Amino acid sequence: MPTERRSLIMLFGGTGDLAIRKLYPAMFKLYQKGNIRDHFAVIGSSRYKVDDAKFREMVEKSVAKESSDKKLIANFASHFYFVTHDVTDLAHYAVLKSKIEELDKKYELQGNRVFYISMAPNFFGTVAKNIKNQNLLSSDGFNRLVIEKPFGRDFESASELNNELSAAFDENQIFRIDHYLGKEMIQNIEAIRFGNTIFEALWNNRYIDNVQVTLAEKLGVEERAGYYDNSGALRDMVQNHIMQIVSLLAMEQPVAFKDTDIRAEKVKALRSLRVYNVAEASSNFVRGQYAAMGNGKEYRQEDGVPKDSNTETFVAGKLMFDNYRWSGTPFYIRTGKKLADKFTRVDVVFKKPLVDIFAFPQSGSAPLTANVLTIFIEPNQGFSLTVNAKNSEQGFHTEPVSLKFLEDSKRTKETPQPYERLIHDVLKGDGTNFASWPEVASAWKFVDQIRRVWDIQQPMFPNYIPGSMGPVSADELLARDHREWVYKLNQ
Ligand code: BG6
Repeated sequence: MPTERRSLIMLFGGTGDLAIRKLYPAMFKLYQKGNIRDHFAVIGSSRYKVDDAKFREMVEKSVAKESSDKKLIANFASHFYFVTHDVTDLAHYAVLKSKIEELDKKYELQGNRVFYISMAPNFFGTVAKNIKNQNLLSSDGFNRLVIEKPFGRDFESASELNNELSAAFDENQIFRIDHYLGKEMIQNIEAIRFGNTIFEALWNNRYIDNVQVTLAEKLGVEERAGYYDNSGALRDMVQNHIMQIVSLLAMEQPVAFKDTDIRAEKVKALRSLRVYNVAEASSNFVRGQYAAMGNGKEYRQEDGVPKDSNTETFVAGKLMFDNYRWSGTPFYIRTGKKLADKFTRVDVVFKKPLVDIFAFPQSGSAPLTANVLTIFIEPNQGFSLTVNAKNSEQGFHTEPVSLKFLEDSKRTKETPQPYERLIHDVLKGDGTNFASWPEVASAWKFVDQIRRVWDIQQPMFPNYIPGSMGPVSADELLARDHREWVYKLNQ
């Protein structure tokens, strides 16, 4: 039987899109599995006037596809309460406080409290401050703060926000969500690396030629132009998700598999990332914006996007770690909207054998290819390793073959979704899969340099066709180093 976690979850932004689409279904899964059961309550709050009955109806609707057991759904929803709340009005916190205390008694929550802020980022600091000043924190159980992205829009604003949060919560009470860290195959990176001598022994610049991380999306900005145009792919995907993935790939082995040790190694890795000067930033990063294609609009014609927007919908870049393990081995990253397909993968390209004994002129054998370990993050979950082997024809010819493991579709479907894992981690108090402040700070310092250069240089947009893998410059970035992306179109 799973351990039942007791807690009150105070959700600011309780009627929001994220809550309805992701958080309530995730909580329901935890309820189904018994991770939360009798001793939990959720208070949803927002500016809207909604009563408990209406709120429960919303919750029931949002989880309806998870189960056909109506009674179970109704029991789950009975733990949900709603309080209309203006986060800037102090009097409203008094109402929240008494509701929290009432539910704490009713459900015997032992003073355990999770404050989850899923609102516009300009309110993060205000809410955290008022939680403390208006005495919503408990003195007996745990107090944890969960905060959604974006965490600032540069190092300076992120620091300000962090100072505001730290005035109310200690670092180990703050859980900064990066939903990529809740993905099965991202968590698997550590198992693959530290559970296998054959990889970890070779996981360095002596044997690895380069590492490639691709986060491709098929959709455009859809209804999020207001947010996206102010952010762009660099802030939206690179500063957080890609930097987190890269740090897991680059870090040293943690002393133990626990949050403090893992975070310490990730921070060390990120701190050894070379922060580029102007010349390096402009040559090692390229950006793109999608053009029109068929019935699809170009980015600048999307609703809510200024006609002269220079916001990038694509980024590719080369990262260099100045440390003993990685010096000289580049990490290439790319992400973008309206690309060929929706997928995430990591390709670790090993060096070719120093001598190719099969390549004597009359052999007719193709040259040996590099071994590539591909980690399929999504939609498929698994990995493959290409190795050179002799083919079975007459004569002696080598060819690359692939050792491949893909999770079957049933298990992939049953894999817990990121929010289920992450909410569970918050209830357990396990910060492993959340971004710590030093990690976020290092990632911003790196990204700010790229942004600074881009803000003063005029891009030639639009520059890539929807359905492609981004602008030509992304291929040139690798070609310049006599390399190419492992994943190419039409593979
Ligand atoms: C979010 C970004 O963090 O991640 C979105 O804001 C992006 O722009 C999304 O679409 C991608 O997440 P996933 O899990 O669908 O790959």
